[in-house]
Amino acid sequence: MLQPACLTVVIVGLCLIVAPSAQRPSPSKQLIAHRGASGDAPEHTFASYQLALDQHADFVEPDIAVSKDGQLVCLHDDSLERTTNVEDVFPDRYSREVQGRDGARQWLANDFTVAELKQLDAGSWRDPKFAGAKLLTFEEMVSIVRGKAGIYPELKSPPLYTRRGVDMAAIFVTSIKAQKLDTPDSMTTTPVIIQSFDWPTVQRMAKELPSIPRVFLTSNAKDITDDRMKDLATFATGIAPEKRVIAQHPDMVARAHALGLTVTAWTFSATEKTTYASVKEEMAQFLYTWGIDALFTNNPDQFPRSDSR
Ligand code: G3P
Ligand code: CA
Repeated sequence: MLQPACLTVVIVGLCLIVAPSAQRPSPSKQLIAHRGASGDAPEHTFASYQLALDQHADFVEPDIAVSKDGQLVCLHDDSLERTTNVEDVFPDRYSREVQGRDGARQWLANDFTVAELKQLDAGSWRDPKFAGAKLLTFEEMVSIVRGKAGIYPELKSPPLYTRRGVDMAAIFVTSIKAQKLDTPDSMTTTPVIIQSFDWPTVQRMAKELPSIPRVFLTSNAKDITDDRMKDLATFATGIAPEKRVIAQHPDMVARAHALGLTVTAWTFSATEKTTYASVKEEMAQFLYTWGIDALFTNNPDQFPRSDSR
């Protein structure tokens, strides 16, 4: 029979094993290059991803869309007109089912094959010096980043694809497995963390890619209540609120940590007007005062590796 003192040691030991610590997640802060180093290069192009690596990003973020021929491509918007010259190259191929604000025409990426997407210029919109930059497939993005940084893919708009009979999550899972990104070896050299605003998609990733961490994105303060985060912690490894939500409720960081969830904020930009003296100072506030684990920034070169304020 165990003596009370021994019992206490056993119970404390078990608690340390199974209970998430309020101090938990990440041992060091993680820098995620938002759409690559998109403050200085056109988002989701080779230039943007390479610059993110040069600026020592821990992770590079590809937003993911699906082409007409079922391939994963790196693109933030569902449509192409903001970041490419699609209106010039394919003037009649705008969507008849989807429109932007005020009825503006939209060219959905899902209406174009990869061969067609490769005809587009994804750099000139940003600066003539980037003219001719190509859109990239997810596989191409992986080949640029693999072994040099982690990959933080966001499954964008899964419901849009579901309405079109396309199972985006299934295509993604197949791609991850085909590239062996979920193997222990690969996870050591090229960690992957999946993100989505779509709660059911994050749930599905927990079942279909259980070895890969997964983060729920939100801009809604309703998602940081204890009850909601407790639900989330049953299948997600982290929560990623818009930075405004964290700034209004910095106590959510400790509450998320107590549930074993990492906290990641988005998005920090040197060109955004804020009350901080610099984006570096803003990031330091979130990382070292409020204790978040990671953040998305357009300016990886401004990331504060330690609190030197
Ligand atoms: O994925 C984190 C952050 O990037 C969410 O915002 O619109 O830039 O994808 P968005
Ligand atoms: Ca994103």
